[in-house]
Amino acid sequence: MSIKTVVIPVAGMGTRFLPATKAVSKEMLPLLDKPLLHYAIEEAKSAGITSFIFVTNLNNKFPSLYLSKNKILESHLREKNKLKTLKMIRDITLKEKNIRLVYQKKPLGLGDAIHRTKKYVGKDDFAVLLPDDLILGRNCLKELISVYNKKNSNVIGVMSVDKKEVNKYGIVKGSIANGRTSKINELVEKPKIKDAPSRLAVVGRYILKNNIFKYLRKISKGAENEIQLTDAISLSAINENVFSYEFSGTRYDCGSKLGFIKAQLACAMLDNSIRKSFKKELEKILRRNY
Ligand code: G1P
Repeated sequence: MSIKTVVIPVAGMGTRFLPATKAVSKEMLPLLDKPLLHYAIEEAKSAGITSFIFVTNLNNKFPSLYLSKNKILESHLREKNKLKTLKMIRDITLKEKNIRLVYQKKPLGLGDAIHRTKKYVGKDDFAVLLPDDLILGRNCLKELISVYNKKNSNVIGVMSVDKKEVNKYGIVKGSIANGRTSKINELVEKPKIKDAPSRLAVVGRYILKNNIFKYLRKISKGAENEIQLTDAISLSAINENVFSYEFSGTRYDCGSKLGFIKAQLACAMLDNSIRKSFKKELEKILRRNY
């Protein structure tokens, strides 16, 4: 079975980015000229995904707005003969039937968000991508799908984090490692630093077997009084194979101000049209005495 569906949770209120997120949702904040959401869609598309399910709050229609056809803009670009830009805009447009919105009225947790998509996911295995976790350099979803294709099992993207940061993440307890891949026995959501079974953290990329819904139904509220996807995966690990994969790209935590600005800098450095002058300007800024 190949992975064709991705679930992208965007129901958060983005409170860390207020007031910017009062009027637009967090995944629409731009890194240079592309919103965070754009990077998520590009990663998913080039990993072979064709069907996109967004879990959103009642106010947030931005993902479908951004991804659907904008006739007025397109005819304006055509009239102005801006054909390159027109192509770019068309390339990010998805067919209506490939976009689904599922609503999560209250922030009951990532597990609850995923559980709500059962009807649209249908019987297939699927991917989950958290757009806050931007991964540049290598397509993380593609890497995980290639492990899934070999193992036909759950595969979770992980990276090593600082010991004092483990309480922000889902942390894995691995057993037999084979290169970047390990078999997981257990996962713990936001453990206390002293209780963390490892420093390998889950970072927003999952390939899940369809039977995860069975485990999501069984779990109750966990860390932060929310239904945690991590707990459902951990429960499933008793009966099913769950693998972690240390992806090779670089991850930026765009859910925090510092992570977001780091991602901006990285995107500027990756952009040939501004890299040189950007570096000069950055040096100037750093020399100023703020
Ligand atoms: C979520 C997951 C957590 C994961 C993290 C990665 O937590 O529940 O397991 O490590 O994303 O960003 P959140 O950051 O939404 O609290």
